[in-house]
Amino acid sequence: MCGIVGFVADSGDALPFLFDGLKRLEYRGYDSAGIALATPEGIATQKSQGKLAQLQELLDRLPRGVPCGIGHTRWATHGRPTDENAHPHMDCQGIIATVHNGIIENFQELKQELMGAGHVFASDTDTEVVPHLLEAYGGDKDLVRAVQSAESRLKGAYAFLAMSSRQPDTIIAVRRSSPLVIGWGEGVHYIASDVSAFLANTRQAQFLENGDLAVVTPQSVTIHDGQGQITERPVTTIGWNIRQAERGGYTHFMLKEIMEQPDVWGDCLRGRVQNGRVVVEELGLVSRQLPKVGRIQIVAAGTAYHAGLVGKSLIERLARIPVDVAVASEFRYQEPVLTDDTLVMAISQSGETADTLACMALARHQGMSTYALVNQVGSTLARESDRVGYTHAGPEIAVASTKAYTTQILVLTLLALALAEARGRARPDLVEGLLMLPAIGQEIVQDLEHIQDMAAQLAQSPHVFYIGRGMDYALAMEGQLKIKEISYIHAEAYAAGEMKHGTLALIEEGTPVVAILTEERLAGKTLSNILEVKARGARVWAIVGKTLGRELPVDHLLSIPTREPFLSPALAALPLQLLAYWTAVNRGQDVDQPRNLAKSVTVE
Ligand code: G6P
Repeated sequence: MCGIVGFVADSGDALPFLFDGLKRLEYRGYDSAGIALATPEGIATQKSQGKLAQLQELLDRLPRGVPCGIGHTRWATHGRPTDENAHPHMDCQGIIATVHNGIIENFQELKQELMGAGHVFASDTDTEVVPHLLEAYGGDKDLVRAVQSAESRLKGAYAFLAMSSRQPDTIIAVRRSSPLVIGWGEGVHYIASDVSAFLANTRQAQFLENGDLAVVTPQSVTIHDGQGQITERPVTTIGWNIRQAERGGYTHFMLKEIMEQPDVWGDCLRGRVQNGRVVVEELGLVSRQLPKVGRIQIVAAGTAYHAGLVGKSLIERLARIPVDVAVASEFRYQEPVLTDDTLVMAISQSGETADTLACMALARHQGMSTYALVNQVGSTLARESDRVGYTHAGPEIAVASTKAYTTQILVLTLLALALAEARGRARPDLVEGLLMLPAIGQEIVQDLEHIQDMAAQLAQSPHVFYIGRGMDYALAMEGQLKIKEISYIHAEAYAAGEMKHGTLALIEEGTPVVAILTEERLAGKTLSNILEVKARGARVWAIVGKTLGRELPVDHLLSIPTREPFLSPALAALPLQLLAYWTAVNRGQDVDQPRNLAKSVTVE
């Protein structure tokens, strides 16, 4: 939700970095964008509704060679995506500029108060109260003190950057829940919502903690913690490199991220399997604690929630430990009953989803043991959970999650197998079998022709149904989400046996139905459901495990080259992702940046 960047150097030009950084953060929001530069003569700013391409056309109106500036790419919450509502926002005198991510909950009352004192507002945003409040607290003379005073008035979860033309070598960065990280270079500091913005410039990153206020100049970073005490935060080296965050010849990040999954799975599994056993410590857990886990509560949002559903099935069936999976935005208000032996586990690509973070805070508050399964190293979730396991998928840029999802499934499979062993139910065959997945995945992603054919047909349809049983139903849910997110076709996932209780009424001549069938024990049952929809005229495309598809009366068949159901979910996800991708391409949609969505949802 909104990407923010800052640059402050001894000398040089902030503009190229600010624009490039925004491009790398555009996945966080793309309703509007803007840049402000601090010169001793005043703040120079340009902003525009729409994507960064529109801002780019205005850049030559900005002065060059200014070494201090901030930028923003917006996902609208308060106020429509117009030029006026685009950030940066300014005070009345045009001395102070701010960019902001998150929500200021009490902005209405602050706005009234400031307007009463004569401040003139130019936008409908919550953000604009910040520069006016800074002005009211004397920010034109002492910006740091003004930010400290203003801070005590703001309610909500947010991060913002502020700078003043009176101190054009300083940026103040404030973090209250929404992420912020500072990049360290020679005589220069970068500030961003996430490290991908500055990975091309430096891999030295300093993550701010909640409550921090950082005073950033070319030579120094002074951090005040939530109590106002000066504190140190470690500077760490980021393991990712910039090539991983680039398209590398693919037309879309999403296609690149789908195609690289087999390799990424190798990274995810590396060092985690030895002699038919899972190396528990490599999952961020401690072996001797596993037998004490009596129940698992998974919380997650979106695609990560769907991975959690697959995880439930794997853990319950392999380890016989009960697992509940909840959508984070619901769980946090459910007054959940958590027993002492429950491990609360969050799954998240970004590690910054506001609802997921709130669930973990709630669990910690209740004294529960917490575990996070995260992709973004150094993210809030990773830092605020008792234990963390990484998916090692590398940077995922496309809004629709693909490689993060399948690596979440792989780590959940490892976890299920480790828990199974701890309960005397070891399955060394499956542990070893996992190591074959990168090679099998490679075979699947190479075989594209069939899927493109299906996608060309699906692109013509106003809706589509996905059906499956058990883990295949969990996969169906992810399949339908992918199609909705990027092609805007109405899609629904149904437990195959449940169709006849209502949804069957929607099947008519030519309705597309994607059936997923990877488990032999359920094949007969799902086949009956396929016949039911076929009898009503549906066109059925089936994704099936090896040997299951031979007799199926379907219109298209995609076979997964394994008959082991516990190893099938990540493999079966590949054709589902490719089908969604090519359907969206056929419909001419903006695959990497679907309308109304953002990759990292840092607001409730
Ligand atoms: C957004 C993204 C989804 C993602 C979800 C949860 O909705 O568009 O792709 O699955 O957030 O994000 P997380 O980072 O917590 O996995």
